[in-house]
Amino acid sequence: MKTIIEPFKIKVVESIRMTTQEEREALLQSAGYNLFLVSAEDVLIDLLTDSGTAAMSSRQWAAVMDGDEAYAGSRSWFHFEAAVREVFGFAHIIPTHQGRAAERILFSLTCSPGDIVPNNTHFDTTRANIEHCGAQAIDLVIPEGKEPATVHPFKGNMDTEALEGIIRIHGKDKIPLVMLTITNNSGGGQPVSMRNIRDVSGIAHTYGIPLYIDACRFAENAYFIKLREPGYAARSIPDIVREMFSHADGCTMSAKKDGLANIGGFLCTRNAGLAEQEKELLILTEGFPTYGGLAGRDLDAIAVGLREAMHEDYLNYRIASTSYLGSHIAERGVPIVQPPGGHAIYIDAKAMLPHIPPGRYPGQALCCELYRSGGIRSVEIGSVMFGRRDPDTGEEIPAPMELVRLAIPRRVYTQSHIDYVVEVILEVLDRKDTIPGYRITHQASFLRHFTARFEPIGMA
Ligand code: F0G
Repeated sequence: MKTIIEPFKIKVVESIRMTTQEEREALLQSAGYNLFLVSAEDVLIDLLTDSGTAAMSSRQWAAVMDGDEAYAGSRSWFHFEAAVREVFGFAHIIPTHQGRAAERILFSLTCSPGDIVPNNTHFDTTRANIEHCGAQAIDLVIPEGKEPATVHPFKGNMDTEALEGIIRIHGKDKIPLVMLTITNNSGGGQPVSMRNIRDVSGIAHTYGIPLYIDACRFAENAYFIKLREPGYAARSIPDIVREMFSHADGCTMSAKKDGLANIGGFLCTRNAGLAEQEKELLILTEGFPTYGGLAGRDLDAIAVGLREAMHEDYLNYRIASTSYLGSHIAERGVPIVQPPGGHAIYIDAKAMLPHIPPGRYPGQALCCELYRSGGIRSVEIGSVMFGRRDPDTGEEIPAPMELVRLAIPRRVYTQSHIDYVVEVILEVLDRKDTIPGYRITHQASFLRHFTARFEPIGMA
């Protein structure tokens, strides 16, 4: 059969409040044209993030009911620890309330001012936590990873020559760890190949530098390896995952993605001494090492979710539905980051709306239009999020790309929801030349995209 069905039945439903275009116009205006300021109740299809938005399975809910809320040594902790060890193979496991808490603990113990941490592409919180320690976060994705239209099976790979160059120039003592983000979220949700993981690990270890994996979307990455990398077609996903992590010395994880949970994360390492220090910091801000800021029921939901995320029927549906959205809009002329990634489709707003210059925020303009037209919430990843002020002239320097991310929550939307999203995007495409740019009327001094207010400006 060529039709791929959702490999689940729906036992509980959550109503969507339908809205009209007129209502949405008024809601947009009162939110200052910033979708972070629109209530979720006023959104029809919420593609703001795939983080913490998954639908849990009946098995996860059953595990939630069975959660043990003891402060120390709860049954839920032992379930969680066993699942993380079985899936990733690390000796020391530290639970945290989400991914960034794991990052903060890891970097505050390993990074000193002046240090350098290479990654394929750092996610914002990873970069911010490294910079908060006075260290420098460097992105070394392969050149193809920076070109939206270029097709490559593993566009998330790290440029290994560039990595060796950085280590030679700065010296191994300035590099406390090397990271790989799988899949590469900020670079379009693109996977990293097993070969690249092995090569990066080989280079780092030659110089005695540990390799850490930002593991958020580990199962999606493993499925791409199975589909695209020679030699892996017959291997099981758990087996591929174990091989991926066998090359690493530790990982940070947000269980809000491929943990199929609504909250949670963890930090893993093979280094017993470091683990002891990490647990001390954990107690300071997250909690006792057998719960780390989570309820027992959350630990149980994650233990089940990590294993469910590796089911091949689920991954097949997951990757097919993301790619279905991407290919159906791309074949009608919507420019997207190619090929479609695992968790999201990224529209190249600069290419789609060439009449709106970066200083008038084409990504923001497209986000507003998708909401106005069809109640879809997406997120701008362009000059609103990453534009910087030139310290000398005070002028705004645009971001290198103007993207709009449509992130797909796991197991939440059905085929007809995705068909509706395709229809809305194509309707917007048909009248793209009439879409106005925006200007900022209010902004905070950092992370402005969360709270900025905008207004549309007349056509140039
Ligand atoms: N690393 C990556 C690659 C991520 O995508 C995220 C979160 C984090 C770390 C931090 O995890 O949110 O649990 O603290 N990404 C979300 C997103 C927020 O929308 O892409 P967290």
